[in-house]
Amino acid sequence: MPETSTVPDLYETTRRSLLGEPKELPPVWLYDEHGSQLYERITRLPDYYLPRREAEILRARADEIARRTQARTLAELGSGDARRTRFLLDALTKLGTLERFAPVDVSEAILRESAWAISVDYPELAVEPIVGDFGELDAIPPDGPRLVAFLGSTIGNLYPAQRAELLARLAAELRADDALLLGIDLVKEPGRLERAYHDAGGVTEAFVRNALTAVNRELDATFEQRRFVYEPRWDAEHEWMEIALRARAAHTVAVGRLGLELAFRAGERLRVEISAKFRRERFEPELRRAGLCVDAWWTDGAADFALVLARPGE
Ligand code: TRP
Repeated sequence: MPETSTVPDLYETTRRSLLGEPKELPPVWLYDEHGSQLYERITRLPDYYLPRREAEILRARADEIARRTQARTLAELGSGDARRTRFLLDALTKLGTLERFAPVDVSEAILRESAWAISVDYPELAVEPIVGDFGELDAIPPDGPRLVAFLGSTIGNLYPAQRAELLARLAAELRADDALLLGIDLVKEPGRLERAYHDAGGVTEAFVRNALTAVNRELDATFEQRRFVYEPRWDAEHEWMEIALRARAAHTVAVGRLGLELAFRAGERLRVEISAKFRRERFEPELRRAGLCVDAWWTDGAADFALVLARPGE
């Protein structure tokens, strides 16, 4: 069961999402231990260009980020295996300001493993892992200047209203000398986006289908894999990838623990996640409305991905 604020909350959120239009499963069901391992495999897929583009920017800019932030604390929201964070850890330890690393992740297993690996490689650092979702902002250690990293375009997995709320909470939580580092995927040709979320080897499909397995196990549900087709698609109006399973034929699914009988129409979609793609001319004003200003905006050579350094204030 994924760690989250409280179990009744998760049940209630799941209930509401499944009863919504479109039907939806909260993305937290993707990240049980197996799901988190599959996700690490996704980050190595050739068509899933995001991590490599982000790594390219981090490699080029980590020293500059270290100089600009002088961070004593590095916190990372949704850290996963924290592979790309090492660019920041290297630059900040070289500069000599960094004292602690606080990774935050819902997967306790991945968190424990990555915290251990990082304390071995950076013995001088205090590593303080936090099990929780990326809304766990109060748990971030107080010692500033702090750099809060939110990489991998995970912010794109929030709906615009949730994103605005999280950014506003970050703006309120951060002090004047703190900074936020956001990795965001940029709008591009839909064919490339669709390939990034639908690899030929079926790793992404297995990752998404695992959410059904998790819900069957944890909520006593009767989702049958063969009744659904994996079908991610680009939503041009909202500029997000909609990650979804489509019901092959009309059928019903019971969710025992929630007391639900869900009727699926033939062709009906069950949304599992969105992955919004960004444009600078829209995202900068969005940050400003949340109370954040852009200190630096970097992209990779192909302008596929951006890394944004932001601070609280005008
Ligand atoms: N943050 C990742 C993204 O938006 C999450 C992700 C990668 C994902 N591949 C996925 C989510 C496939 C659902 C399905 O790109």
